[in-house]
Amino acid sequence: MKNSQGIVLGIETSCDETAVGIVSGRKLLANIISSSVTEHARFGGVVPEIASRAHLEAMPGVIKSALDEAGLSIKDIDAFAVTAGPGLIGALVVGTSSAAGLALALDKPLYGVNHLSAHIAVDSLNSDHKLEPAIALLVSGGHSSILQVNDLTSDVKTLGSTIDDAAGEAFDKIARLLELGFPGGPAIDIDAKNGNPDAIDFPRGLTLAKDLVGHKYDFSFSGLKTAVSRYLAKTPDHIRSDVSASFQEAVADVLLRKAIGAATDSGIDTLIIAGGVAANSRLRFLAQERAAAAGIRLRIPPMALCTDNGAMVAAIGALAVAKGLAPSEIGLQADSSSGISRPIF
Ligand code: KG4
Ligand code: ZN
Repeated sequence: MKNSQGIVLGIETSCDETAVGIVSGRKLLANIISSSVTEHARFGGVVPEIASRAHLEAMPGVIKSALDEAGLSIKDIDAFAVTAGPGLIGALVVGTSSAAGLALALDKPLYGVNHLSAHIAVDSLNSDHKLEPAIALLVSGGHSSILQVNDLTSDVKTLGSTIDDAAGEAFDKIARLLELGFPGGPAIDIDAKNGNPDAIDFPRGLTLAKDLVGHKYDFSFSGLKTAVSRYLAKTPDHIRSDVSASFQEAVADVLLRKAIGAATDSGIDTLIIAGGVAANSRLRFLAQERAAAAGIRLRIPPMALCTDNGAMVAAIGALAVAKGLAPSEIGLQADSSSGISRPIF
């Protein structure tokens, strides 16, 4: 299995997934995820203390399973990568300490990486296409941005971002209103399959001509959230799946209008859609349709690699190794609010 491209083990613990991925260059060798989501469900959201403890308990077993899946021993790993931010600080520290311990003990380089950059880097796996330049629509539980990716490890420009809720957060909040449980995105995705996306004409935030002046590539989902909440209050006999489908349609429509617009305006004809919300089946379908119509090359990672995983962390670590970037300090500090402008720590 070993080759000269460098085998990187990536550790992800920014939220409720304890995840380890192993790559060799751009080839994915292993991807193991242990989630504490069921422990948080009754609280309606991730509880940081519970997440940190679950990471500590799961970490050794997840590392071992990943090595087994790759058919490797820990001594075969050439470099370690770990999510150093953004995320829950206690959860991040479990990951950075584990990775630092391994790197120190085995005398191998350590790369602290940005979780958001890692979501995009997963697009590099199992293919040798050119990554940059690209426009990226990054849509997760905490972030929604349109980025111009000139170089993923050193030059990413933010063209727009949400001015209130993130897209994933909107899914989670509306799912709570619809009593669909947590996490809300996958639940709405399933419920919407039985509904009519045109049943209710929910608002598309920041898409009016007047909004385009200062907010051309920005998002706003708070008006949509209020509209759904008002609709539910005044329509006691509503059909839930119609609400799910119409809400999902409003989110997907506005995300794609702006992302395809950015690709068209910039003349960068590759669009990458990444982050947990990129797992949404309606967004994936509409993206194919609209990108084809606009002559844009669309890249969306396989669904399992859109939500948080360790392969994406290993992927950006491997890009850093391939570019000969300097490793991070062994005592690197996790940063809960780190932005995309700091891809490698
Ligand atoms: O990237 P991610 O796994 O974690 C963060 O970095 O935040 O994204 C999680 C978000 C959650 O808000 C979740 O509800 C949403 O992604 N999500 C989805 C789907 N799967 C996950 N949203 C819509 N449809 C889905 N199928
Ligand atoms: Zn994420």
